[in-house]
Amino acid sequence: MQTPFGVVYATNISPDPENGIGTWSEEAFRRAMHEGIRKDGAYLYPAFPYDHFTLITDEDISALYAYFMAQEPIPSQPLENELGFPFNIRTLLAGWNLLYFEPGRFEADPEQDDDWNRGGYLVEALGHCGACHTPRNALGGPKLGERFAGARVDGWYATGIGAHSPSPLQWSEWGMVNYLIDGWDRDHGVAAGPMTPVVNHLALLPEDDIYAMAVYITSFQEDDDRDRDAILAFAEEREFESQTIPESDFLDDPALRRGQERFASSCADCHRRVSETAPLALASSVSGPDPINLINVTIDGIRPPDGVPEKSMPRFTTMSDEELHDLVSFIRHHFTEEPAWDNIKSAISIARENFSRSSGR
Ligand code: HEC
Ligand code: HEC
Repeated sequence: MQTPFGVVYATNISPDPENGIGTWSEEAFRRAMHEGIRKDGAYLYPAFPYDHFTLITDEDISALYAYFMAQEPIPSQPLENELGFPFNIRTLLAGWNLLYFEPGRFEADPEQDDDWNRGGYLVEALGHCGACHTPRNALGGPKLGERFAGARVDGWYATGIGAHSPSPLQWSEWGMVNYLIDGWDRDHGVAAGPMTPVVNHLALLPEDDIYAMAVYITSFQEDDDRDRDAILAFAEEREFESQTIPESDFLDDPALRRGQERFASSCADCHRRVSETAPLALASSVSGPDPINLINVTIDGIRPPDGVPEKSMPRFTTMSDEELHDLVSFIRHHFTEEPAWDNIKSAISIARENFSRSSGR
């Protein structure tokens, strides 16, 4: 995991006695999950989401322990973390824990129904959705006043969800179920980047559990006074008709005009009215506050979640930074009524680093 403090490697958690957790008692396992402390007493880095796992019931911890211990032991050596001073000093995490860590099991809210409480448990504890979706401060502590508000993680933007969703159309419970199980919903488009493995794993859950998570997350949305039909009409109207732009539609601004031409030649083949793709005007990667997901998918394409193998998109590796800048500016201008992004340049350079890292693996 790339963190602002350096690279943290996930350790071997197979039951291998030398390199894994094969000699750990259930009590040691429970302490790691609930308190973030290793068998030898050292603090674990919060990149391991024990601040979420602390909410897991004792019963589920026992089940997880039984499951892990029944797996094949794998002798591979974990890599050494690459953390600079002072972040390489584990004892400092005692201070981090005092500031940001609240140990304790999930408590059901008696005011809410069973679905909501089940969903809350899955989202907050096992699903640890906030580990990516909640922004962190300079010390890597979650900003608790901004739960699920959206955050950069691993060179992507984990979009705001619940009360903070930037999606043009409000999420319905069933739209959220589609997105979390298949990785795609007509009103919101496809899951990409680090969200892809999340939905591939969620697809293994019983549908009732996914529904409960959807009930929980959508319950934080404010009452929707947006006009669904008007938003759908806008999205439809902005879709390209074909790959040829009528001269009357040529934009005056030279950079936007170059982006418009690029969109017509490279993107409108698939992203136009007759195609099966969700309209770009509905995607949070286009309407949201951060351009980086749009840039990432343009540079690296989309290898879609297992549930929607047809939703794949090719990568565009040969575009220069300037061409990419013009294209991204055009997409924002054309498909939304939001203000222009002012951080496209820096987002492009982070996306380029992402790409060279992932293709060098
Ligand atoms: C490893 C980090 C990570 C974790 C963990 C994670 N997400 Fe995400 N999520 C992302 C990223 C990155 C995106 C943006 C993907 C894109 O633009 O296609 C995203 C997108 C989403 C979206 C779509 C938002 C929109 O408006 O388009 C929803 C809904 C969502 N996540 C829900 C969840 C839920 C529920 C969980 C917990 C089960 C979860 N996520 C866990 C990283 C993560
Ligand atoms: C060969 C077909 C194809 C081409 C060409 C193509 N795309 Fe896509 N793109 C897709 C598909 C399929 C999806 C997923 C559609 C959906 O969500 O319904 C997608 C999704 C997207 C998304 C939404 C991603 C998200 O996080 O939700 C963006 C943004 C996007 N494309 C931008 C572009 C841009 C910019 C270009 C041109 C440089 C382009 N696409 C060219 C097929 C294509």
